[in-house]
Amino acid sequence: MRRIVIAGNWKMHKTQADSLAFLNGFLPQLETTPEQREVILCSPFTALTSLSKTLHGSRAMVGAQNIHWETSGAYTGEVSGEMLTELGVRYVIVGHSERRQYFGETDKTVNLRLKAAQASGLTPILCVGETKEQRDAGETETHVVGQIEKALAGVDQSKLIIAYEPIWAIGTGDTCASDEANRVCWLIRSQLANKDVPIQYGGSVKPGNVDEIMAQPDIDGALVGGASLEAETFARIVNYVS
Ligand code: G3H
Repeated sequence: MRRIVIAGNWKMHKTQADSLAFLNGFLPQLETTPEQREVILCSPFTALTSLSKTLHGSRAMVGAQNIHWETSGAYTGEVSGEMLTELGVRYVIVGHSERRQYFGETDKTVNLRLKAAQASGLTPILCVGETKEQRDAGETETHVVGQIEKALAGVDQSKLIIAYEPIWAIGTGDTCASDEANRVCWLIRSQLANKDVPIQYGGSVKPGNVDEIMAQPDIDGALVGGASLEAETFARIVNYVS
């Protein structure tokens, strides 16, 4: 049985106060969440401490949205794995398309960050996915397989989550058809040595489409952006009906 992992990626949203208000509404709704589902909240760095303290002993776990590959040094603005684990962080998103697009993230730095995360004891959530132009040109498969190969060179696949996020479906409301998403997730799995790595789908996941997405055989979870920002909405996603 593969693990089911539902993660919220808050991106650059929510102050500490906003995060705690969210938890007030969200945590009671986890009481009915099936035990085998992993629930993760990936907040900005500034809310990690509060989130970690409040979530201690609860069903949900804390994730960060980035990690530097060095353990320390003159890297202004960066955060190391040890700095994250000290706060109780267990997961970290690596290679999100927004970091690749706006912050110069490359396959090489994604690979370095994955290794650094694992060396610190964190479970990385590796994001891959194609642009609309690549999809229209019929390049989805080659692009995604290439990203996977480069990202995972020398990476331990026993402590890893992968998120397939077609870039054209992120924040657009334009969800990838569930069978198309499943086909790419299957393709990703076919490239892995460890077939039990949880593979999430991300891109406009919401309460109205999560059941159908999660019914797909090669989709093991969701990485949720916009719909994870409101407690009631994200709880409905986490508590989807299988
Ligand atoms: O990390 C999450 C993804 O970028 C999906 O974002 O659910 O707002 O489309 P979205």
